[in-house]
Amino acid sequence: MRGFYSRKIHSLLGVIPLGGFFLEHMLTNFSAVEGGASGFNDSVLWLNSLPLVFFLELFGIWLPLLYHGVYGLYIAYQSKPNLNRYNLERNWRYTLQRYTGVITFIFIVWHVFETRFQVTLGNVKHEELGGVMHNIVTQPLLLAFYVIGIVSASFHFSNGLWSFLISWGITVGPRSQKASSILCLGLFVLVTLMFIVSLVTFRDSEFQSVASAASIVQSLSTAI
Ligand code: HEM
Repeated sequence: MRGFYSRKIHSLLGVIPLGGFFLEHMLTNFSAVEGGASGFNDSVLWLNSLPLVFFLELFGIWLPLLYHGVYGLYIAYQSKPNLNRYNLERNWRYTLQRYTGVITFIFIVWHVFETRFQVTLGNVKHEELGGVMHNIVTQPLLLAFYVIGIVSASFHFSNGLWSFLISWGITVGPRSQKASSILCLGLFVLVTLMFIVSLVTFRDSEFQSVASAASIVQSLSTAI
């Protein structure tokens, strides 16, 4: 019974709050497409000006991610796919959910290290993050790694949402499950495209100049 509740908490956290955060993150990145470097900067600064931002992030992102990610790795390690015996759609979904969970885990650790962790260490300022992203996505190998990470995370979230709706008794019959399957596929395509268009936008030299302007201001202020 204890395993039952830990699985339920794991499942719930995948949607609330992590799914919500994932969509919010997609919109923040997309503000680079709509508003360029200054639009992206404004979104980042707005998020960081929210009241109690430390606790919002701790309880809305870091702790749920730690629980869902680490327990998810344990579930993936324990699972036994039987693709050889039953080559069915659900078996593929089950297996891909686990593989994409592991890829997403590696991607998130790397992505957080390159961005947020550098801000925490004081190596980078919030307003330089667009420039950091520019430096990453202008390197072909890192760009490829980011595309793989994004496709994995989007699939994991969209397919996870489909399975969540079944396991929480929201889509019960075959018709509602078919409908949610189509909606979740649409969500997968939309979220993936929006993230990838944002990545491509960060390649724009506009983001490089923001980064260098910010570092000039930083070096001037330390010199003063
Ligand atoms: C950090 C690395 C992650 C790992 C290792 C991981 C692993 C897993 C695993 C193994 C499952 C299947 C659980 C089951 O069927 O019993 C799962 C489900 C799920 N995950 Fe993740 N996950 C990760 C990150 C995320 C993130 C960032 C999100 C949100 C965007 C997310 C959303 C979901 C959802 C919605 C489900 C479906 C829950 C359900 O079936 O009821 N996961 N995860």
